[in-house]
Amino acid sequence: MPEKPWLAAKNVEWLKVGERKLGGDSCGDVYSGKLKFRGKKAFAVAVKRFHDNLRWMAPGAGGVERYPRVIENLRKAGVPMPKMAFMQHEGKPVVVSELFAKGGRSKIMEIRDVMDQKPVLNEKEVERIKDTMVRVFNAGHVPTFDCMSLVRTKKGLVPLVHDVDLFAQPPFAQTMFTVKFLSWLYPENPANRVKAFEDIKRRVTHPASQEALKMVKKMIET
Ligand SMILES: Nc1ncnc2c1ncn2[C@@H]1O[C@H](COP(=O)(O)OP(=O)(O)OP(=O)(O)O)[C@@H](O)[C@H]1O
Ligand SMILES: [Mg+2]
Repeated sequence: MPEKPWLAAKNVEWLKVGERKLGGDSCGDVYSGKLKFRGKKAFAVAVKRFHDNLRWMAPGAGGVERYPRVIENLRKAGVPMPKMAFMQHEGKPVVVSELFAKGGRSKIMEIRDVMDQKPVLNEKEVERIKDTMVRVFNAGHVPTFDCMSLVRTKKGLVPLVHDVDLFAQPPFAQTMFTVKFLSWLYPENPANRVKAFEDIKRRVTHPASQEALKMVKKMIET
């Protein structure tokens, strides 16, 4: 049984956006906030307010329509992600998500940042990231470094798809990221990289992603 969607906008009594900025830049700014569902206690959330000049968010450009579907498809594909919803707040679109923070600071470690620090990933962590890639592909998207982050839990580092902005934009060449992911996860041995790629390819059933993976195969082979 799939988990129920997190929230329907009609059940939201109010949303407050706080002063504290948690991060953001490319597409918007992320603040901590509070969300209250009717009949429930208010709880802490992260709220992304989009920059005003985003082309794909302009009226008629389709972005606003795509977000809810993107989130729903990722959720159905079992992608590990914060509970997340796209809604209107004070006449502007926002993404509200389950807050991963401690002491007012985000616990989310962007992959693009940790990559430079070269954390040693154990086998389980590598598997989890690979599994998340497969799930994103099976939701019909190409996993990018932007979309994914790591959170430290008792189980070790766990991947989280915290940023879906690229998926709500018209698709463009994101396949390079698959090659980059594999080089990062299997730095030592190119044969392991090819093996991991073959494993991903075998598990991906979404037609659009299968097409994308054909391009990746060419990149890996050249
Ligand atoms: N649910 C969340 N819980 C805690 N922190 C979050 C959450 N969502 C986002 N953040 C924080 O905000 C930062 C930016 O979020 P996001 O990547 O969605 O925005 P962006 O506009 O793409 O910004 P950037 O250019 O930094 O990627 C994250 O790296 C993280 O620190
Ligand atoms: Mg981002």
